[in-house]
Amino acid sequence: MSKTIIITGGAGFIGSHVVRLFVTKYPGYKIINLDALTYAGNLENLRDIEDSPNYYFEKADILDKDAIERTFQLHQPDAVIHLAAESHVDRSILSPLDFVYTNVIGTVNLLNTAKHFWKDDYSGKRFYHVSTDEVYGALGETGFFTEETKYDPHSPYSASKASSDHFVRAYYDTYGLPVVVSNCSNNYGPNHFPEKLIPLFINNVIHKKPLPVYGDGLYTRDWLFVKDHATAIDLVFHNGKTGDTYNIGGFNEWRNIDLVKLLCKLMDEKLGNNAGTSDSLITYVKDRPGHDRRYAIDASKINKELGWKPSVTFEEGLSQTIDWYLANTEWLKHVTSGAYQHYYEEQYHKR
Ligand code: NAD
Ligand code: TYD
Repeated sequence: MSKTIIITGGAGFIGSHVVRLFVTKYPGYKIINLDALTYAGNLENLRDIEDSPNYYFEKADILDKDAIERTFQLHQPDAVIHLAAESHVDRSILSPLDFVYTNVIGTVNLLNTAKHFWKDDYSGKRFYHVSTDEVYGALGETGFFTEETKYDPHSPYSASKASSDHFVRAYYDTYGLPVVVSNCSNNYGPNHFPEKLIPLFINNVIHKKPLPVYGDGLYTRDWLFVKDHATAIDLVFHNGKTGDTYNIGGFNEWRNIDLVKLLCKLMDEKLGNNAGTSDSLITYVKDRPGHDRRYAIDASKINKELGWKPSVTFEEGLSQTIDWYLANTEWLKHVTSGAYQHYYEEQYHKR
C-alpha cells in the first residue's frame, strides 16, 4: 500500500514521535511534516530521520491558506494527521487569542483545504484530528472520561481544542469529510519542551532550581509514555472507524506531588545524590487559575476495538525519560538557550 500523509505539528513533542514511527515503519509511504516552527517546533527532534527518502519537511503556518493549498497541490496527500496546536495551558491563560487562531481557525483552514482538494471524492481519504482529554473538563475523586462524556472545557487551551473537535465532527456530519478523532491524556517522554511539568522539573533538578508545585499539589493526571501515544495514533489512523472518537490513556493516575517525589527519587539515584537532595527543591507556589482537579481516561474502547494498550509502566517510562534528558544535554541546552531555532536555517537553507 502507498500513502501520502501530511502530518501537521511534526516538529513538536508528540508529532516528532509520530513522524519517526511512520517514516521508519512505512517506507512505502510519503510523509510530509508540515510545521510553522513556533517556539515548540524543533527540527533537531528529527535529525535521525531527516535524510530518509520518504520524509519531506514543509515550513508552513496552518493559518496561511495559500501555503497550505500549495502544500496540498505539491504533495497530493491522501490523508492528514493533524497535531499542530498551541498546547500549553499556562500560555493559554496569558494569551488566549493565539490559541483561538492556531487551534480553531488553523484547524478549520486545514479542514477546508482537505475538503476542497479532495473535491468531495473521499475514497481512501482520511482526516485524523489529534486532541486532548482536557476538553472533558475536570473529574472529582471518582469516575473516568469516556467517549460519551459531555464536553466541559475550563482553560482557554481546552476550550480552543474543544472548539476544533466540534468543527472536525461538523465537517463529518455536514460534508461527509472522513474524519477520525482521538482524545489523549497527558504525555511524557523524550523531546518534551521543558515548560510542562515533567521536563521542566527534570531540567530544574539538573540545574538545582526550585520545583514549583502549583496549589496543594494534589491535582491528578493520567500519564502516558509518548511512544505509546504514537502507536495508538498509528492504530487509529489505519483501523479506527470513520466518524468515531477514541480515548487514549495510560491507566496511570498520579497526584502531582507523588509524581514529583518519584521523579526526585529516580533523579537522585541516577545523579548519585544523597536521598532527599532533590526533594528539598520542592516549592509550593500560587495555584494555576481554573486548575482542573483530576483527569482520568477510560481507554477501554481502543483497547477492545483496536487491541491497543500501553507498553511500559510509568516507572519504566519515567526512568527512560530521565535517562534521555541526562544523555541529551546538548538538546536541552539548545532548547533552553533558543539555539534550536537556528537549526532550520542551517539544515534546510544550505541545500
Ligand atoms: P507541542 O507544543 O510540543 O508541538 C506543537 C507543534 O505544532 C510544534 O512543532 C509547533 O511548531 C507546531 N505549530 C504550532 N502552531 C502552528 C501553526 N500555526 N502552524 C503550523 N504548525 C504549528 O505539542 P504536543 O505536546 O506535541 O501536542 C501535539 C498535539 O497533541 C496537540 O494538538 C495537542 O493538543 C495534543 N495533545 C497533547 C498532549 C500532551 O500531553 N502534550 C496530550 C493530548 C493531546
Ligand atoms: P502540565 O504539564 O502543564 O500539563 P496540563 O496542565 O496540560 O495537565 O501540568 C501537569 C500538572 O502539573 C498540572 O496539574 C499543573 C501542574 N504543574 C505544576 O504543579 N507546576 C508546574 O510548574 C507545571 C508546569 C505544572
